[in-house]
Amino acid sequence: MQATEQGRRHSGRAVAARLTAAPGRVDLGGTVVDTWSYGTVPGPSLRAQVGDRVVVDLTNHLPAPTTIHWHGIALRNDMDGVPGMTQAPVTPGASFRYDFTVPDPGTYFFHPHVGVQLDRGLYGTLVVEDPSEPGGYDHDWVVVLDDWVDGTGRTPDQVLASLLAGTTASGMGGMGMGGMNMSGGGMGESMGSPLLGGAGDVVYPHYLVNGRTPTDPVTFNGRPGQRARVRLVNAASDTAFRVAVGGHRLTLTHADGFATRPVTGDAVLVGQGERVDLLLTLGDGTFPFVASAEGKSGNALAVIRTAAGAVPAAGSLPVELDGKVLTVADLAPAESAHLPPRRVDRTHDLLLGGSMNGYRWTINGRTFDQQQPLEVRQGERVRLRMRNATMMFHPMHVHGHTFAVLDAHGRPGVRKDTVVVRPMQAVVLDLDATNPGQWMTHCHNAYHGEAGMMTTLSYRN
Ligand code: C2O
Ligand code: CU
Repeated sequence: MQATEQGRRHSGRAVAARLTAAPGRVDLGGTVVDTWSYGTVPGPSLRAQVGDRVVVDLTNHLPAPTTIHWHGIALRNDMDGVPGMTQAPVTPGASFRYDFTVPDPGTYFFHPHVGVQLDRGLYGTLVVEDPSEPGGYDHDWVVVLDDWVDGTGRTPDQVLASLLAGTTASGMGGMGMGGMNMSGGGMGESMGSPLLGGAGDVVYPHYLVNGRTPTDPVTFNGRPGQRARVRLVNAASDTAFRVAVGGHRLTLTHADGFATRPVTGDAVLVGQGERVDLLLTLGDGTFPFVASAEGKSGNALAVIRTAAGAVPAAGSLPVELDGKVLTVADLAPAESAHLPPRRVDRTHDLLLGGSMNGYRWTINGRTFDQQQPLEVRQGERVRLRMRNATMMFHPMHVHGHTFAVLDAHGRPGVRKDTVVVRPMQAVVLDLDATNPGQWMTHCHNAYHGEAGMMTTLSYRN
């Protein structure tokens, strides 16, 4: 299975879109903020079918350079949107055409790969449909989660600057202490989770579903007994979410775009950059869809309505949040997503670390500016052994590839492109090096990435 351009599936069709990144005022549901966006928050929801060409013309009206990265898509390297690596940054006033084929169906999203622009309103979704899929649902809902600070007195760049300067006394996770953070308005807030350990570095005033705060949530309408496919995307920068729907169980069918064996639980944990597709059989009434900021205080809310009834209160916390919470450990690949076992040609170790001094996150003791790329050759089966030596979780993402997370028996398991590595835990990933280029491999906590926790999966010949 070659993922080189000639080897990709081509449908002969194309989907075109225009995106303009610009400063502007956005209403988050009663909270009006000045931010940077693609016009709305979230940005457009793009849809294509597998094998289509996606042609997106980006125009930059921001006062800063930008790019678009197509998160999770095994696309051609020169369209991956990493400035200084796969393309020149798109400077203010300039335009760039992204033109690539989408080789795999699934739920994906896009965002800039410049600084902490992801923590503004610069994100949108890309759903790649599979025309041969059986379907079996009545609704297809895209649900995007976010943690929000921009325009509330601080920009993400200011948050990053104060983290780097140490004036917000964060980075305790980096010191291996975990949990205690003071990055809000001077008062400390303990951010820790039994599932994740240190839960983040930034205290956010708002959590959003599809760009709305809980005081004016988005509503999804259906009829009792119908089935809804929920394509859940965590576009947050520093927050994992625990997601549940009052009165419902969730059946997880896809992780990061790829089919899993269906598994049912009460709630699901989604780290930054992760996506899950869920099937819901709709009950009769009005139900809260809640994304609770894991280990932090606050939640995002949407409403599912199949009958008349009061809108759930902004603070509704369904009991399902404390039921069976699905994590990566519960997932196994569907037959179609199975990575066949094979001899491993090359192994790289990635020690995820933090600094005792200042806000500095590392891979093998190095920040990105001093990175030692992870060298691979085309055609190899590559194993990445990640070990987290900090008390903070890291959602680790590899560009341009979908890896198999080794299961408890050491066999290639669920396919993903982003995986949460919990404090003091190890995760082993296998991938086939079939997509030549230079591919970022990094923590999808936007602040950790900017503070150094990034490297490159680098094809050599
Ligand atoms: Cu969505 Cu390099 O990231
Ligand atoms: Cu991290």
